Amino acid sequence: MPLLGVNIDHVATVREARKTNEPDPIHAAVLAEIGGADSITVHLREDRRHIQDRDVRLLREISRVGLNLEMAVSDEITKIALNLLPDQVTLVPERREEVTTEGGLDVKTHLARIRQCVDQLQGAGIAVSLFIDPDLSLIEAAKSLGVTAIELHTGAYADAQTTKETEIEFDKLREAGQFATAQGLLLNMGHGLTYRNVRRIAAIQGVHELNIGHSIVSQAVLVGFERAVREMKQLVTL
Ligand code: PXP
Repeated sequence: MPLLGVNIDHVATVREARKTNEPDPIHAAVLAEIGGADSITVHLREDRRHIQDRDVRLLREISRVGLNLEMAVSDEITKIALNLLPDQVTLVPERREEVTTEGGLDVKTHLARIRQCVDQLQGAGIAVSLFIDPDLSLIEAAKSLGVTAIELHTGAYADAQTTKETEIEFDKLREAGQFATAQGLLLNMGHGLTYRNVRRIAAIQGVHELNIGHSIVSQAVLVGFERAVREMKQLVTL
């Protein structure tokens, strides 16, 4: 039964739309925990477009479930992570012009740079997960870095327009997931998952945790944060 990681970045997106102090992602984290979240995820982007340093600091203090910090392979953010010691760091690619994280990490091209960052984080006792596309050679590269987990990018599955395309993308995730767990890696998945498309992904054998943000925050605007998380938790664990 997969765990549910709730990404609260877009609560901060609404706050930053007015550069004010509401809604507070810290309040959302508390409600997410009450709703059944198994961990809280935030992405501290280099441009600070949503989550701010203060948010991560406070979350570290108050969160009673695990804190998963998404971050780019960047010296500045690595320093912050080493200071804060989140339970897990998920390394993601980051480009300033993108709306959201568009693709997985290119682990093979940037192996040396990623290794340096992974070693620093793991040396401080932080578990590291790498956000990658469902490609076996990327999983092998991740394994060679000694990370605890990978997070398979479910965006192509979520964005598929036809049944055929959906099946192709689903099979890629299932096969890559099987390969990753056989390598002894913890298997996380996320990006673009919604109340409509999450069930099949949650049923993939060996999935450890699903990280879901935008769809939960969207539902929360209408029904409240705690209920939105509870509804997603039911779908993930059914
Ligand atoms: N996992 C990773 C690595 C991400 O970068 C994101 C987006 O911030 C998510 C999961 C959550 O994606 P979504 O907001 O589409 O649920």
